[in-house]
Amino acid sequence: MDFALFQDILKTRRSIREFTEEPVSLSDIEELIDCARYAPSDTNSQTWEFIVVVNADKIKQIENFTWDRLHETAARAAEQGLEREAKLLVKSFGPYATAFSGAPALIVCLSTPYTSKFREKIFDPIAFVAPEVWEEEGLKSSCLAAQNLMLAAHAKGLATCPMTGPVLLAEDKLREYLDIPEDRGVNMVIALGHPAISPKAVPRKEVAEILRIVD
Ligand SMILES: Cc1cc2nc3c(=O)[nH]c(=O)nc-3n(C[C@H](O)[C@H](O)[C@H](O)COP(=O)(O)O)c2cc1C
Repeated sequence: MDFALFQDILKTRRSIREFTEEPVSLSDIEELIDCARYAPSDTNSQTWEFIVVVNADKIKQIENFTWDRLHETAARAAEQGLEREAKLLVKSFGPYATAFSGAPALIVCLSTPYTSKFREKIFDPIAFVAPEVWEEEGLKSSCLAAQNLMLAAHAKGLATCPMTGPVLLAEDKLREYLDIPEDRGVNMVIALGHPAISPKAVPRKEVAEILRIVD
């Protein structure tokens, strides 16, 4: 294994929000999902699924209903006298939540319900934790798969941007539009395409700031 190469892949991945018009091939998409599924998951439950939208009109439709919801949310805030926040929401959060609009592919990362022999035979009978905790458990593994996918994309020269903005604003509309079953969690969407720009790295906290060693 070449750690220096791996570090380079990790450290040069960026969230990219501008894409060329070149489509992403089906074989690239399949290879990314192949890499995603090698992520670790609680008791190998593999609580992930992916919907990949490659139709420009459909991506536009998702962008449109995200903007509609943003304007509705801003109007409600303004009605409550929060005009400044409403304006900021549209001006700052709007472009952030719709940064996938120029991407030729949009990956919707889903989490599936966490099931396991542990859960069935031990945890559920003793009501070990609240049911919502199991939803969270599924989501954790789904996030790891999403990270695998983004690193694999970067290693292939593709660009990604992980996004929860459209999910926070319009999850219900996304569910309806893509016919996502109720028992799936909508984790995040990932814009995918060929990079049109090469943005500078954004700063990271220092290791000393985020690490505490217990000896
Ligand atoms: C959970 C999560 C949600 C994010 N949501 C959005 C989003 O809605 N829109 C967007 O443009 N970027 C989004 N990002 C990307 C972050 O802004 C980006 O990862 C961060 O600024 C660090 O930059 P880098 O990925 O280039 O290192 C999100 C990232 C994560 C992990």
